[in-house]
Amino acid sequence: MGLLFSFFTVTALVLIVLIGVKAANFHYLFGVIVPYAAFLTFFIGVIYRVMQWGRVPVPFRIPTTAGQEKSFPWIKQNAIDNPSTAFGVIIRMAFEVLLFRSLFRNTNTELREGPKLSYGSTKWLWLGGLAFHWTFFIILTRHLRLFFEPVPMLIQIMESLDGFFQVGAPVLYLTDLIFLGAVTFLFLRRVIIPQVRYISLAADYFPLFLIFSIGFTGILMRYFFKTDVVGIKQLTMGLITFSPVVPTGIGIIFYIHLFLISALFAYFPLSKLMHMAGVFLSPTRNLVNNNRAVMHVNPWNYPVKVHTYEEYENDYREKMKAAGLPVEKE
Ligand code: HEM
Repeated sequence: MGLLFSFFTVTALVLIVLIGVKAANFHYLFGVIVPYAAFLTFFIGVIYRVMQWGRVPVPFRIPTTAGQEKSFPWIKQNAIDNPSTAFGVIIRMAFEVLLFRSLFRNTNTELREGPKLSYGSTKWLWLGGLAFHWTFFIILTRHLRLFFEPVPMLIQIMESLDGFFQVGAPVLYLTDLIFLGAVTFLFLRRVIIPQVRYISLAADYFPLFLIFSIGFTGILMRYFFKTDVVGIKQLTMGLITFSPVVPTGIGIIFYIHLFLISALFAYFPLSKLMHMAGVFLSPTRNLVNNNRAVMHVNPWNYPVKVHTYEEYENDYREKMKAAGLPVEKE
């Protein structure tokens, strides 16, 4: 259900641009207004959600401990998986955000004959996830060449490293291949593994289809359909400098790419993709584990205003007696 719904939603998005740009000539709408609106939604939405999270009290110190806590000097501490200093937390977070360390340590459980519960290593999700996020990040960073004139040195270096194998013209980017491969893997994993399929919803399939379609249209544009790159750069530079222009002659495939990206950006704050910001706000990862060294007092503990039984009885003594209930003091 969720799968088909997501597929048709993405198809509908493509149809909307086809009709809007090809048939109705709404170039300004799809080239300027929609991208601006989408980016604004993204910007305000992400800030709003982070502020909402920031307001949630964290009365307990709850870091996940995955190694030896700091103890006697002769017991070796695991300073990354059980950090006792702010620096340790920074290292832990960096491993988590950049290398998905906790996913690397993921295990799967299986009931074998006996019956015996066995634990095995599962690294495929980690590898697929890492490949997907890193190539996404590199591709997006490479896109900065559309928004800068002259193109920064760093982006140029990235481009030449990514096109290292010099296959074809235009040169094939390795990240493009890995990106589509990784998204496909993440999708197939959801569909093929019954347990994962059972818990998968439209909210899981939709971002995958959308992101795949963005990558796919990008690749079509670069390698298969000729688009007017000069015109596109005029448009992107216009957007970024707040003096939008819509040159004629840019192929429809660019408008599809741009509209799908706009959909992704607008959808982002409403979706599970917010884990991008959430990972930094996770108290199980971003707190120092100094539970034994420092006394942490829950701000909700005593002294708080309480209503004792004695006070309660004083308030209701007459009514209690009238109802025939026993009282402690007459
Ligand atoms: C979610 C963000 C985006 C993703 C995942 C994405 C993905 C891709 C991919 C995989 C390609 C193939 C070539 C390459 O890797 O450079 C591509 C090309 C392209 N994308 Fe994107 N894109 C994104 C955002 C954008 C934005 C914001 C724009 C402009 C407004 C844009 C405009 C283009 C253009 C013009 C090309 C063709 C480049 C060429 O011919 O060399 N993309 N995109």
